[in-house]
Parts: sequence; C-alpha cells; structure tokens
Amino acid sequence: MAITLAFDVYGTLIDTHGVIAKLEAIVGDRARDFSSTWRDKQLEYSFRRGLMQNYENFAACTRDALDYTCSRYAAGITPDQRQALLESYRELPAFEDAEPALRELRARDCRLFAFSNGAAEAVETLLSAAGIREHFLGVVSCDDVRSFKPNPAVYAHFLRKADATGSEAWLISGNPFDVIGAISAGMRAAWVQRSEDSIFDPWGIEPTATVQSLGALADAIGV
Ligand code: LAC
Repeated sequence: MAITLAFDVYGTLIDTHGVIAKLEAIVGDRARDFSSTWRDKQLEYSFRRGLMQNYENFAACTRDALDYTCSRYAAGITPDQRQALLESYRELPAFEDAEPALRELRARDCRLFAFSNGAAEAVETLLSAAGIREHFLGVVSCDDVRSFKPNPAVYAHFLRKADATGSEAWLISGNPFDVIGAISAGMRAAWVQRSEDSIFDPWGIEPTATVQSLGALADAIGV
C-alpha cells in the first residue's frame, strides 16, 4: 500500500513570514516581531474557537489576529493597507525546499495531500500561486468539519477523505502542536524543525521522525 502524506500548509510548505517585506513599509524594523505575533495570535484564535465551538473560518482568525496585532503595536494602518496585508496572506511564498521535495516524494509513489486549517478555496489559491499545487492528489480542509487542528476529529476527517488508515499515513508539519495532535489521533508524524531555535513541546509525545528540511523527508520516513 502506498504511503499517504498529509502536508500541513502554513509554516510547513508555505512561509507565513512572507509578509515581512510588506510589513516593513508599515512598522519598520518591528516587522519580524509583528509577523510572529500575528501568526501566534492567529493560531491562538483557532484553538480558542475550536474549544468554544464558536466556528469562523481560518481567514477570520487571520483577520482578527491582524487587528489585535495592529492594536498591540499601535500600528495605525489604513483600510487599504489592511486589505493588502490580508490579500498577501492568500499569496505567500513556498519554502525553497518544498517543490523539489514534493517532486521527489511523488516520484517515490507517495500519495500527497495538503491538509490545512485553511478553507479549501484559500489553500487551492495559495498552492497554485506558489507553484506547487500540481504535486497533490487533493486538498483536505478542517473547514469541512468546522473545526481546527488539533481536534482529533480533523485528523479522522483527513484519513476518511484520503482513504487511508493511521498506520500508513503520515502528517508532515513544522508545527509541534499539529505533530502531537496527529500522533494522538493514531497517525505517524514527521516534525520539520525549520530552525535550531524551534522547540518541541515537552508533552512526552515524540515525533515519529524529525527532519531539518523537507529534502530529508524521503529518507527519514523510509520511502
Ligand atoms: C495549517 C496551520 C496549522 O495550515 O498552519 O493547518
């Protein structure tokens, strides 16, 4: 049976800090910190909406997190600038290692899916703009079940949609909370540790494999 790979999107294939150049024009040398706060808040809002069962889609989490971050950094942005930042979130760049790694895994007969909190339409747009959509058999969105990672229901939804079982399916993610969520839901999971500074949560649940870049994935998961 061919191995099924569920690629997380934001932070794994797609670089959410791709907005930094636009942010520099608005908040100057605070752009990197602004971008990190925006991303952290976006995820926090998804976790909270999941727990509260007060669903709005991931784009709403991104929008509300941007408004929060603007207040926190006292960044007075115009409605046009706000719109442009939200638009740029729909066309972020892929990490450099993504395209060659996806090509290689496909050549090794893996079944590749994108699996994201993002709504299917947003993820389709993003992957196409980044030039990597062609490598995937499909896009599976948590939006289908009106919840977010790491709700176990979203990983079960992925397995159903991909017609796979947990023992033959891997999540590939740069986000430790996602890796722990997938393993807890019975999948295997590879953590892409994109920088030496990123720390895995000390919950006593370890990734099945850890790689420093997507290029090392094929060997690490033995395909
Ligand atoms: C995603 C979030 C975790 O793409 O970034 O699902």
